[in-house]
Amino acid sequence: MDTTKYIWMDGKHVPWEKAQVHILTHAVHYGTAVFEGIRCYRTKRGPAVFRLTDHMKRLMGSAHIMGIKVPFTREVLEKAVIDTIRKNEIEECYIRPIVYLGYGKIGLNPVGATINVSIAVFPWGSYLGEEGVKNGIRAKVSSFCRGNVNAILDSAKTAGNYVNSVLAKREAVEDGYDEAIMLSNDGFVAEATGENLFIARNGHITTAPNALVLEGITRDTIMELAADAGIRVSEEMFTRDQLYLADEAWLTGTAAEITPVREVDRRAIGEGKPGPLTRRFQETFKKIVRGEDEKWARWLNYVD
Ligand SMILES: Cc1ncc(COP(=O)(O)O)c(C=O)c1O
Repeated sequence: MDTTKYIWMDGKHVPWEKAQVHILTHAVHYGTAVFEGIRCYRTKRGPAVFRLTDHMKRLMGSAHIMGIKVPFTREVLEKAVIDTIRKNEIEECYIRPIVYLGYGKIGLNPVGATINVSIAVFPWGSYLGEEGVKNGIRAKVSSFCRGNVNAILDSAKTAGNYVNSVLAKREAVEDGYDEAIMLSNDGFVAEATGENLFIARNGHITTAPNALVLEGITRDTIMELAADAGIRVSEEMFTRDQLYLADEAWLTGTAAEITPVREVDRRAIGEGKPGPLTRRFQETFKKIVRGEDEKWARWLNYVD
Protein backbone atom coordinates (compact mmCIF):
# COMPACT_ATOMS: atom_id res chain seq x y z
CA MET A 1 0.00 0.00 0.00
CA ASP A 2 0.99 3.63 -0.43
CA THR A 3 1.96 5.28 2.83
CA THR A 4 2.08 8.79 4.30
CA LYS A 5 4.21 10.25 7.10
CA TYR A 6 1.94 10.40 10.13
CA ILE A 7 -0.98 8.58 11.72
CA TRP A 8 -3.12 10.10 14.48
CA MET A 9 -3.22 7.80 17.52
CA ASP A 10 -5.16 8.70 20.66
CA GLY A 11 -4.61 12.42 20.25
CA LYS A 12 -1.07 12.51 18.88
CA HIS A 13 0.54 12.21 15.45
CA VAL A 14 3.04 9.35 15.34
CA PRO A 15 5.31 8.36 12.45
CA TRP A 16 3.59 5.88 10.08
CA GLU A 17 5.95 3.00 10.89
CA LYS A 18 5.50 3.48 14.66
CA ALA A 19 1.70 3.25 14.52
CA GLN A 20 1.56 -0.25 16.00
CA VAL A 21 -0.52 -2.24 18.48
CA HIS A 22 0.29 -5.10 20.87
CA ILE A 23 -0.42 -8.63 19.60
CA LEU A 24 -2.83 -9.13 22.52
CA THR A 25 -5.00 -6.21 21.46
CA HIS A 26 -8.62 -7.30 21.99
CA ALA A 27 -9.69 -6.21 18.48
CA VAL A 28 -7.00 -8.36 16.83
CA HIS A 29 -8.54 -11.46 18.41
CA TYR A 30 -12.25 -10.74 18.25
CA GLY A 31 -12.78 -8.02 15.64
CA THR A 32 -13.96 -5.61 18.34
CA ALA A 33 -13.38 -2.39 16.43
CA VAL A 34 -15.58 0.01 14.50
CA PHE A 35 -14.25 1.97 11.59
CA GLU A 36 -15.01 4.33 8.73
CA GLY A 37 -13.86 4.84 5.18
CA ILE A 38 -13.94 8.47 3.99
CA ARG A 39 -12.45 10.24 0.97
CA CYS A 40 -10.71 13.57 0.56
CA TYR A 41 -10.65 15.04 -2.95
CA ARG A 42 -8.51 17.61 -4.73
CA THR A 43 -10.55 20.72 -5.58
CA LYS A 44 -9.70 24.18 -6.92
CA ARG A 45 -9.88 25.46 -3.33
CA GLY A 46 -7.55 22.75 -2.00
CA PRO A 47 -8.33 19.34 -0.48
CA ALA A 48 -11.91 18.76 0.72
CA VAL A 49 -13.40 15.86 2.69
CA PHE A 50 -16.71 14.47 1.41
CA ARG A 51 -19.51 14.22 3.99
CA LEU A 52 -17.12 14.14 6.95
CA THR A 53 -19.77 14.75 9.61
CA ASP A 54 -22.05 12.04 8.21
CA HIS A 55 -19.21 9.52 8.31
CA MET A 56 -18.24 10.51 11.85
CA LYS A 57 -21.86 10.28 12.97
CA ARG A 58 -21.95 6.75 11.56
CA LEU A 59 -18.71 5.93 13.41
CA MET A 60 -20.20 7.13 16.70
CA GLY A 61 -23.37 5.16 15.91
CA SER A 62 -21.38 1.98 15.24
CA ALA A 63 -19.59 2.43 18.59
CA HIS A 64 -22.94 2.99 20.29
CA ILE A 65 -24.31 -0.26 18.82
CA MET A 66 -21.21 -2.10 20.04
CA GLY A 67 -21.45 -0.52 23.51
CA ILE A 68 -18.07 1.18 23.03
CA LYS A 69 -17.70 4.61 24.68
CA VAL A 70 -15.50 6.65 22.35
CA PRO A 71 -13.07 8.70 24.47
CA PHE A 72 -13.22 11.69 22.06
CA THR A 73 -16.15 13.75 20.85
CA ARG A 74 -17.21 13.63 17.21
CA GLU A 75 -16.06 17.25 16.79
CA VAL A 76 -12.56 16.40 18.08
CA LEU A 77 -12.31 13.44 15.69
CA GLU A 78 -13.47 15.56 12.73
CA LYS A 79 -10.78 18.10 13.54
CA ALA A 80 -8.23 15.28 13.89
CA VAL A 81 -9.11 14.09 10.37
CA ILE A 82 -8.51 17.58 8.94
CA ASP A 83 -5.28 18.03 10.96
CA THR A 84 -3.95 14.66 9.81
CA ILE A 85 -4.55 15.48 6.13
CA ARG A 86 -2.86 18.85 6.63
CA LYS A 87 0.09 17.35 8.55
CA ASN A 88 0.68 14.80 5.79
CA GLU A 89 0.45 17.51 3.10
CA ILE A 90 -1.69 15.24 0.97
CA GLU A 91 -4.20 16.54 -1.59
CA GLU A 92 -6.28 13.46 -2.23
CA CYS A 93 -6.62 10.45 0.06
CA TYR A 94 -8.67 7.72 1.67
CA ILE A 95 -9.24 8.24 5.40
CA ARG A 96 -9.52 5.33 7.82
CA PRO A 97 -10.59 6.20 11.38
CA ILE A 98 -10.87 3.21 13.72
CA VAL A 99 -12.03 2.86 17.32
CA TYR A 100 -10.78 -0.40 18.80
CA LEU A 101 -10.67 -2.30 22.03
CA GLY A 102 -7.04 -2.33 23.03
CA TYR A 103 -4.56 -4.16 25.18
CA GLY A 104 -5.14 -5.37 28.74
CA LYS A 105 -8.17 -7.65 28.62
CA ILE A 106 -8.23 -10.92 26.70
CA GLY A 107 -11.54 -12.67 27.50
CA LEU A 108 -14.69 -12.13 25.51
CA ASN A 109 -16.13 -9.81 28.13
CA PRO A 110 -15.02 -6.43 26.74
CA VAL A 111 -15.87 -4.46 29.88
CA GLY A 112 -12.74 -2.77 31.14
CA ALA A 113 -10.76 -3.10 27.92
CA THR A 114 -8.99 0.10 26.87
CA ILE A 115 -10.59 2.02 24.02
CA ASN A 116 -8.21 3.45 21.47
CA VAL A 117 -8.74 5.57 18.39
CA SER A 118 -6.60 6.10 15.36
CA ILE A 119 -6.91 7.90 12.02
CA ALA A 120 -4.79 7.06 8.99
CA VAL A 121 -4.84 8.88 5.64
CA PHE A 122 -3.23 7.44 2.52
CA PRO A 123 -3.52 7.45 -1.27
CA TRP A 124 -5.97 4.89 -2.65
CA GLY A 125 -7.20 4.87 -6.26
CA SER A 126 -10.39 3.36 -7.68
CA TYR A 127 -11.21 0.35 -5.49
CA LEU A 128 -12.68 -1.72 -8.31
CA GLY A 129 -10.20 -0.39 -10.90
CA GLU A 130 -10.28 2.40 -13.50
CA GLU A 131 -11.47 -0.06 -16.12
CA GLY A 132 -14.40 -1.06 -13.88
CA VAL A 133 -15.42 2.57 -13.33
CA LYS A 134 -15.31 3.17 -17.09
CA ASN A 135 -16.84 0.03 -18.55
CA GLY A 136 -18.47 -1.76 -15.63
CA ILE A 137 -17.54 -4.77 -13.53
CA ARG A 138 -18.57 -8.43 -13.55
CA ALA A 139 -20.17 -9.74 -10.38
CA LYS A 140 -21.47 -13.03 -9.08
CA VAL A 141 -24.13 -13.75 -6.53
CA SER A 142 -22.20 -15.11 -3.58
CA SER A 143 -22.66 -18.48 -1.95
CA PHE A 144 -22.30 -16.56 1.34
CA CYS A 145 -25.30 -14.56 2.51
CA ARG A 146 -25.49 -11.47 4.71
CA GLY A 147 -25.92 -12.16 8.41
CA ASN A 148 -29.05 -12.72 10.37
CA VAL A 149 -30.26 -9.24 11.42
CA ASN A 150 -30.03 -10.13 15.05
CA ALA A 151 -26.66 -11.85 14.98
CA ILE A 152 -23.96 -9.28 14.33
CA LEU A 153 -25.95 -6.07 13.86
CA ASP A 154 -25.01 -5.12 10.32
CA SER A 155 -25.81 -1.42 10.73
CA ALA A 156 -22.56 -1.07 12.66
CA LYS A 157 -19.37 -0.93 10.64
CA THR A 158 -17.72 -3.41 12.99
CA ALA A 159 -14.40 -4.98 11.98
CA GLY A 160 -15.54 -8.52 12.85
CA ASN A 161 -18.58 -8.22 10.57
CA TYR A 162 -16.24 -7.98 7.60
CA VAL A 163 -15.20 -11.64 7.80
CA ASN A 164 -18.43 -12.27 5.91
CA SER A 165 -17.38 -9.82 3.17
CA VAL A 166 -13.85 -11.22 3.02
CA LEU A 167 -15.18 -14.75 2.45
CA ALA A 168 -17.46 -13.56 -0.34
CA LYS A 169 -14.85 -11.32 -1.97
CA ARG A 170 -12.23 -14.08 -2.04
CA GLU A 171 -14.69 -16.53 -3.54
CA ALA A 172 -15.75 -14.06 -6.27
CA VAL A 173 -12.21 -13.06 -7.20
CA GLU A 174 -10.96 -16.66 -7.23
CA ASP A 175 -13.89 -17.53 -9.49
CA GLY A 176 -12.81 -14.81 -11.93
CA TYR A 177 -15.27 -12.03 -11.01
CA ASP A 178 -14.59 -8.52 -9.76
CA GLU A 179 -17.11 -8.45 -6.93
CA ALA A 180 -19.67 -10.52 -5.01
CA ILE A 181 -23.31 -9.62 -4.54
CA MET A 182 -24.76 -10.95 -1.33
CA LEU A 183 -28.32 -12.02 -0.64
CA SER A 184 -30.11 -11.78 2.67
CA ASN A 185 -30.80 -14.95 4.61
CA ASP A 186 -34.19 -15.24 2.94
CA GLY A 187 -32.87 -14.65 -0.56
CA PHE A 188 -33.41 -10.95 -1.30
CA VAL A 189 -30.61 -8.96 -2.91
CA ALA A 190 -28.74 -7.04 -0.21
CA GLU A 191 -25.45 -5.43 -1.24
CA ALA A 192 -21.90 -6.13 -2.38
CA THR A 193 -19.00 -6.85 -0.03
CA GLY A 194 -18.10 -3.18 0.52
CA GLU A 195 -20.69 -1.34 -1.56
CA ASN A 196 -24.43 -0.84 -1.81
CA LEU A 197 -26.23 -1.86 -4.99
CA PHE A 198 -28.78 -0.02 -7.11
CA ILE A 199 -30.82 -1.27 -10.05
CA ALA A 200 -32.73 0.79 -12.59
CA ARG A 201 -35.67 -0.45 -14.63
CA ASN A 202 -37.88 1.71 -16.84
CA GLY A 203 -36.36 4.84 -15.30
CA HIS A 204 -37.20 3.83 -11.72
CA ILE A 205 -34.37 3.06 -9.34
CA THR A 206 -34.37 0.64 -6.45
CA THR A 207 -31.99 -0.25 -3.65
CA ALA A 208 -32.39 -2.72 -0.78
CA PRO A 209 -33.87 -1.33 2.47
CA ASN A 210 -31.73 -0.18 5.41
CA ALA A 211 -32.62 -3.28 7.38
CA LEU A 212 -30.65 -5.48 4.96
CA VAL A 213 -27.58 -3.34 4.31
CA LEU A 214 -25.06 -0.90 5.67
CA GLU A 215 -26.61 2.56 5.36
CA GLY A 216 -24.09 3.81 2.84
CA ILE A 217 -23.35 7.50 2.61
CA THR A 218 -22.78 7.26 -1.14
CA ARG A 219 -26.12 5.41 -1.35
CA ASP A 220 -27.76 8.29 0.49
CA THR A 221 -26.04 10.72 -1.89
CA ILE A 222 -27.56 8.92 -4.90
CA MET A 223 -31.00 8.88 -3.28
CA GLU A 224 -30.81 12.64 -2.63
CA LEU A 225 -29.60 13.36 -6.16
CA ALA A 226 -32.30 11.16 -7.66
CA ALA A 227 -35.04 12.82 -5.62
CA ASP A 228 -33.68 16.22 -6.60
CA ALA A 229 -33.74 15.24 -10.29
CA GLY A 230 -37.30 13.91 -10.02
CA ILE A 231 -36.21 10.30 -10.60
CA ARG A 232 -38.36 7.75 -8.76
CA VAL A 233 -36.28 5.96 -6.16
CA SER A 234 -37.43 3.30 -3.75
CA GLU A 235 -35.89 1.31 -0.94
CA GLU A 236 -37.46 -2.10 -1.22
CA MET A 237 -36.72 -5.80 -1.34
CA PHE A 238 -35.91 -7.15 -4.78
CA THR A 239 -34.90 -10.55 -6.00
CA ARG A 240 -32.02 -12.00 -7.94
CA ASP A 241 -34.13 -12.37 -11.10
CA GLN A 242 -35.10 -8.68 -10.89
CA LEU A 243 -31.40 -7.91 -10.79
CA TYR A 244 -30.86 -9.99 -13.95
CA LEU A 245 -33.71 -8.09 -15.65
CA ALA A 246 -32.48 -4.60 -14.70
CA ASP A 247 -31.70 -2.06 -17.44
CA GLU A 248 -28.79 -0.83 -15.33
CA ALA A 249 -27.06 -1.72 -12.09
CA TRP A 250 -24.32 0.07 -10.18
CA LEU A 251 -22.46 -0.12 -6.89
CA THR A 252 -21.93 2.80 -4.53
CA GLY A 253 -19.32 3.16 -1.82
CA THR A 254 -16.67 5.53 -0.59
CA ALA A 255 -13.88 3.30 -1.91
CA ALA A 256 -15.64 2.23 -5.14
CA GLU A 257 -17.50 5.55 -5.65
CA ILE A 258 -20.04 4.78 -8.41
CA THR A 259 -19.06 1.66 -10.31
CA PRO A 260 -21.31 0.24 -13.04
CA VAL A 261 -22.15 -3.49 -13.02
CA ARG A 262 -22.17 -4.83 -16.56
CA GLU A 263 -22.71 -8.51 -15.87
CA VAL A 264 -24.07 -10.69 -13.05
CA ASP A 265 -23.70 -14.48 -13.07
CA ARG A 266 -22.70 -14.39 -16.77
CA ARG A 267 -25.86 -12.51 -17.73
CA ALA A 268 -25.47 -9.05 -19.26
CA ILE A 269 -27.18 -6.24 -17.35
CA GLY A 270 -29.10 -4.19 -19.91
CA GLU A 271 -26.80 -3.73 -22.87
CA GLY A 272 -23.80 -5.04 -20.96
CA LYS A 273 -22.30 -1.57 -20.56
CA PRO A 274 -22.85 1.42 -18.26
CA GLY A 275 -26.29 2.90 -18.89
CA PRO A 276 -27.40 6.55 -19.04
CA LEU A 277 -28.50 6.87 -15.39
CA THR A 278 -25.26 5.34 -14.15
CA ARG A 279 -23.25 7.75 -16.32
CA ARG A 280 -25.32 10.68 -15.19
CA PHE A 281 -24.79 9.90 -11.50
CA GLN A 282 -21.08 9.29 -12.06
CA GLU A 283 -20.71 12.70 -13.74
CA THR A 284 -22.69 14.56 -11.09
CA PHE A 285 -20.84 12.80 -8.27
CA LYS A 286 -17.47 13.66 -9.79
CA LYS A 287 -18.43 17.35 -10.00
CA ILE A 288 -19.76 17.46 -6.45
CA VAL A 289 -16.70 15.88 -4.81
CA ARG A 290 -14.39 18.17 -6.80
CA GLY A 291 -16.26 21.23 -5.54
CA GLU A 292 -17.69 22.05 -9.00
CA ASP A 293 -21.35 21.97 -8.02
CA GLU A 294 -22.30 24.79 -5.64
CA LYS A 295 -25.70 23.26 -4.97
CA TRP A 296 -24.12 20.47 -2.92
CA ALA A 297 -21.25 22.48 -1.43
CA ARG A 298 -22.52 21.67 2.09
CA TRP A 299 -21.21 18.11 1.64
CA LEU A 300 -17.58 19.29 1.50
CA ASN A 301 -15.28 20.19 4.39
CA TYR A 302 -12.30 22.11 3.07
CA VAL A 303 -8.98 21.30 4.74
CA ASP A 304 -7.69 24.90 4.49
C1 LIG B 1 -20.85 -3.56 3.47
C2 LIG B 1 -20.82 -2.19 2.94
N1 LIG B 1 -21.90 -1.72 2.29
C3 LIG B 1 -21.94 -0.48 1.78
C4 LIG B 1 -20.85 0.38 1.90
C5 LIG B 1 -20.92 1.74 1.30
O1 LIG B 1 -20.96 2.74 2.29
P1 LIG B 1 -20.41 4.20 2.01
O2 LIG B 1 -21.07 4.69 0.78
O3 LIG B 1 -20.81 4.97 3.22
O4 LIG B 1 -18.95 4.10 1.87
C6 LIG B 1 -19.71 -0.06 2.57
C7 LIG B 1 -18.55 0.82 2.74
O5 LIG B 1 -18.40 1.41 3.77
C8 LIG B 1 -19.70 -1.36 3.10
O6 LIG B 1 -18.61 -1.82 3.73
